[in-house]
Amino acid sequence: MKLAGIDIGNDSIKVVLDGVREPLVIQNIVAPGYERHILQEEDSPLKALDVVVHSPRLSKNSQRYFVGLLAMENEDSMELEETDNKAVSDQSLIVALTALAYAGIVSQSVTNSGYGNIEEVEYTLGTGLPVRSYSYYNKMFEDRLVGEHEVTFLTTPTLRNRKVKVSIRRAVISIEGAAALFHMATHDNLQVRDEELHQGCIGICEIGALTTDFPVINKMSIDNQFSTGEQIGMATYLDSIIRDVEDQYGYRFPSRAKLVQRIKKNDFTIRRIGEGQSSMKQVVDLYFSRAANKIVDLIKKRWKKHPDIQCFYVIGGGAAALRSYIIEAAGPIKLRFVDESELLNVNGYLKLAKNKVNHNQYT
Ligand SMILES: Nc1ncnc2c1ncn2[C@@H]1O[C@H](COP(=O)(O)OP(=O)(O)OP(=O)(O)O)[C@@H](O)[C@H]1O
Ligand SMILES: [Mg+2]
Repeated sequence: MKLAGIDIGNDSIKVVLDGVREPLVIQNIVAPGYERHILQEEDSPLKALDVVVHSPRLSKNSQRYFVGLLAMENEDSMELEETDNKAVSDQSLIVALTALAYAGIVSQSVTNSGYGNIEEVEYTLGTGLPVRSYSYYNKMFEDRLVGEHEVTFLTTPTLRNRKVKVSIRRAVISIEGAAALFHMATHDNLQVRDEELHQGCIGICEIGALTTDFPVINKMSIDNQFSTGEQIGMATYLDSIIRDVEDQYGYRFPSRAKLVQRIKKNDFTIRRIGEGQSSMKQVVDLYFSRAANKIVDLIKKRWKKHPDIQCFYVIGGGAAALRSYIIEAAGPIKLRFVDESELLNVNGYLKLAKNKVNHNQYT
């Protein structure tokens, strides 16, 4: 049985296995799969996740999908929208199961299932939901994950025709942002690392792709009254950038993921036919400062309502993207940032699942 944390993000799915340092990150993008013409095989399996997914929880079964990078270039690819809910989304489940099957193979956690050439990996998972969907959806989310699913890799380099049964025995559902704080406050062996975080009243602003969570955590317990969330995230602003760049320069990014790839590399050049070049830096600055102002307003509002909050952490992928803009917008208000902030939740989920499993052994 493998213990794993999985953050089923609207932008990307992150997986960490107990005892494995490197996290696995797969973009939450799928496209309908088909027989593809391969001129040269990709140099890594993650560049060509081509799978058939079977799960009793999917509305359409045994369909073929391109997942992650392979779907990113595809015109029929789907990224999630504001109205999607990760607790019930088929797309998110497809990417999550693909990620878990892949992680099982590369960590050599798969065993022979006893049925032909089918391999099996068994998991206890830690995962989470946004503050506002937690109370209503956590049971439904758990029921969707727990059970037996199957992923078959087709043209994926080095994994051709591997069939993996993904058996999820148990899923421990936590809350986005709160799990991140648990990770920051504890060591890998779950002992307290930071007394201030452990004993204090801490505000969190976790900026995701579609939601921004504002849990308030007092002595490591989530505050039911003051924790909340907003249905905004980076996606709205990224979509606006895509639209404006298209209007101004006639260049269309096929997906948000493609745009983010470029922003992360600090590459703002827009190339046009005939060697023409422009920069989209201004457009990015405009929308990112807007996003930052909005976030800072929300933080101020929360902090005013609950002045006992000692410090505010700004985390999630959005914090990495907006850091300098938020610092500027915040002026004298001190906010805290941490590195690799999009991986805090998934590490927290793993620790919380470990905590629960350990606890159960003693009771
Ligand atoms: N360094 C960066 N520069 C620009 N954008 C980034 C950077 N890092 C992450 N992002 C973007 O920030 C957004 C939030 O990323 P994150 O990984 O936290 O989202 P998620 O967890 O998948 O979404 P959600 O929490 O809504 O389910 C994404 O749109 C992502 O592409
Ligand atoms: Mg997230």
